Amino acid sequence: MQKKVKRIGILTGGGDCPGLNAVIRGVTKPAMNDYGITVVGIQDGFEGFVEGRMRELTRLDIQGIVDKGGTILGTSNKGDPFHYPTETVNGIEIVDASARTLKHYKGWGLDCLIAIGGDGTMHISKKLGEMGMNIIGVPKTIDNDLDATDQTFGFDTAVSIASEAIDRLHTTASAHHRVMVLEVMGRYAGWIALAAGLSSGADIILIPEIPFKWEAIAERVIERSTQGNRYSIICVAEGAKAANEEIVIREKDIKRTDPVRFGGIGDYVARRIQEDTGLETRATVLGHLQRGGSPTSYDRILATRYGVRAVELAVNGEFGRMVSLKGTSVTSVTIAEAISKQRLIPTDGELVMTAKAVGTSFGE
Ligand code: F6P
Repeated sequence: MQKKVKRIGILTGGGDCPGLNAVIRGVTKPAMNDYGITVVGIQDGFEGFVEGRMRELTRLDIQGIVDKGGTILGTSNKGDPFHYPTETVNGIEIVDASARTLKHYKGWGLDCLIAIGGDGTMHISKKLGEMGMNIIGVPKTIDNDLDATDQTFGFDTAVSIASEAIDRLHTTASAHHRVMVLEVMGRYAGWIALAAGLSSGADIILIPEIPFKWEAIAERVIERSTQGNRYSIICVAEGAKAANEEIVIREKDIKRTDPVRFGGIGDYVARRIQEDTGLETRATVLGHLQRGGSPTSYDRILATRYGVRAVELAVNGEFGRMVSLKGTSVTSVTIAEAISKQRLIPTDGELVMTAKAVGTSFGE
């Protein structure tokens, strides 16, 4: 018979995103009120789990947090227990700290762990599950690149912030007759760039899924300017790259679960456009503004639904699964399924076709 779940551990892993607190509340309220379960909050993602930093959450902890960005638990993208960075006299050494993590899981009497995170968190969760932990995943990331769910929470907020930024760039671009380039996040996927660019009428959208050609961008910008549109707006995903060129990255950091830190394509594109066309061009990097602040009401609701469903899975003993959105329903899939591939934009999909139909160029 399935052992009754009495203590649930919860952590937020990887980069933060708006809606994390709504999930924590969505888990903790029904856990405490309906099922008499104690929720143990693990500090700073897997880093805190490896180090055994955790405490039982109280009603006070989850009061008034549904609309708050960030995470009351803290997070980290450097604490993979299987590749744990440790300071030694010779510098940073990467060790396997998974046994230590399992010891804390048992020591705190946890019956289950709810891991809220993106693909890095889900990969780690799958391996911890194989060591004997009962895991339930909740898909988080502004990048929206997790397969097996139609949407991750945080994405809607990031898109609305990026859309507002493009709206604002429109007015200053038209006033100065400039080309404006906005770099948005998204890692290897162009979802934020495509959605924000489409919703705010960007003239050119550059995404990793469609490598671009410099000549095509210059042609479009000049065409617009000779037709009397004396400004252009370009929304570029941080992972976008020119055909036959590499992704532009800021740095590699071995302590991170994903060592690659993106950044720089916006400046690069702006410089090239100015050189190729002679038109005055400026770049803006939206950066972490996309992840900060209040979640949209859509993300608050989705995050709450995910949290509530995650507790139901725990109570029913349905471990090794990740909650997921399919159409309009919240359901669940195996974590293995969720990490089997990255969710990229289908280049012949409806969203790309819609953007093309309204005259958007992808720099092809
Ligand atoms: O995965 C979320 C994300 O915001 C990416 O879009 C971005 O590349 C990365 O995290 C930034 O990471 P950091 O906050 O560590 O700079």
